[in-house]
Amino acid sequence: MTTYKITLTRRWPEAVEVGLRASYNLELNETDEPMTREQLAAALVQSDALCPTVSDRIDAELLGGADIQARIIASYGVGFDHIDLTAAKERGIVVTNTPEVLTDCTADLAMTLLLGIARRAGEGERHVRARAWVGWRPTHMMGTKITGKTLGLVGLGRIGLAVAKRAHFGFGMRVIYFDPAPPPAQAVDAVGAQACDSLELLLEEADFVSLHCPSNEATHHLMNAQRFELMRDSAFLINTSRGNVVDAAALVDALRNKQIAGAGLDVYEGEPAVPDALISFENVMLLPHLGSATLETRIAMGMRVAENLEAFFAGNDPQDRVA
Ligand code: DGY
Repeated sequence: MTTYKITLTRRWPEAVEVGLRASYNLELNETDEPMTREQLAAALVQSDALCPTVSDRIDAELLGGADIQARIIASYGVGFDHIDLTAAKERGIVVTNTPEVLTDCTADLAMTLLLGIARRAGEGERHVRARAWVGWRPTHMMGTKITGKTLGLVGLGRIGLAVAKRAHFGFGMRVIYFDPAPPPAQAVDAVGAQACDSLELLLEEADFVSLHCPSNEATHHLMNAQRFELMRDSAFLINTSRGNVVDAAALVDALRNKQIAGAGLDVYEGEPAVPDALISFENVMLLPHLGSATLETRIAMGMRVAENLEAFFAGNDPQDRVA
């Protein structure tokens, strides 16, 4: 029986690495430092499968290299904007992702940001740690009430639906959404969401705007200066999708000019760099791309990669094939 060589570009939860080692010739990146382009290129030449993650850029130039042996790129993560799918297809390389298993945890994190910015949790925590708290008083750190407010979801895919369910049934929010390719009516009704005819209308109406659209050409800088102008000055932006869906300079201007009340961000264009201006705002909650970061989910993501590899090497179409 052939033992295929697979390369993981970063360390994965131990349980997954142990499972993979039992079936494959497993190449690990022991340092867990991001692999260089040269290392990624070498891995494509030396492995039957490359298993990158969302922070590895697998572009056309890399996929155009000579002597590539890898026949599958089994990515660890649901987003696949870091891989040039067209180039992979041209090269005859199959690409898979890990959908579904991270839906709940990513939705939980969007709610964490929503609650955090509304109730000034980050600011309050910094206040206590700085030993600046002088005691309870009626006007201290007043935030924004969630119950009864309107949440506008930009994108109503799996994660958007999971956020809608939590916000509507858990927190008594009215949920509206804009999605040019909405899910079936039954799924929408089940989470109590109401359609908006345009993104512009949603921005005008929402107290909280949460982004759940994929990152592609159409959504690049979807939230730009004109769209921030449409938001209420009491409204908050939440982004757990991808950094490049928001024009960060326009967001900074909107915050500086008090066009919006605050923002909760888990993702950034060009991360891990985060603009200094964003760090300076008290009314912005910043997390380091933690959407799927629970042990249970990170193991499930690895298992999903393992299932895709198993199907592929058995000669079947992997369930999560995106190219
Ligand atoms: C993804 O999977 O695309 C997330 O951004 C990381 O879990």
